[in-house]
Amino acid sequence: MKRRNLLITIFAVAGGAITAFFTWFTQPSIRGQTPTHTETLTQPRYQKKKILNISELKPGSYIVFNWPTETERYHVNILIRGKEGKGMGRRADLYAYNLVCTHLQCQVKYDENTDMLVCPCHGSIFDPSNDANVVKGPAAKPLAKILVEEDDKGDIYAVDMIGEPGQGR
Ligand code: FES
Repeated sequence: MKRRNLLITIFAVAGGAITAFFTWFTQPSIRGQTPTHTETLTQPRYQKKKILNISELKPGSYIVFNWPTETERYHVNILIRGKEGKGMGRRADLYAYNLVCTHLQCQVKYDENTDMLVCPCHGSIFDPSNDANVVKGPAAKPLAKILVEEDDKGDIYAVDMIGEPGQGR
């Protein structure tokens, strides 16, 4: 009987030790480590911020806004209310991009005559109604895209960025 109790105790202790080891091994926070890239993929990289209400943005107009910070010179973006159907928001008419050129990081401008985003430095052109893809170089990569959400009241928020300012995506 004593031998049987001893074996049960040994198995119980071994089982607890194995469970503790696997918990430690699979939970980085328990080990005091920063979560890996894969563990943070579902988390937005930046803090959500209200840009404006849709009532302040007429069809065909745009606004330039700073985000994710107010002061970083690369954190300058544009929100355009363009054609319905291919964009974001409740009417799928919102298009938002970081304005730092993917060639040599000048700030691109919205050209109201062509509805394109044009770089004043070396003439690159990006199409905002087509994911800011390059229409004309020397830039080779599209602008970083800002993900926006529109709530029931028409408030529009910047929530995340695909790509990096000046590096594109
Ligand atoms: S920096 Fe924009 S085209 Fe060169």
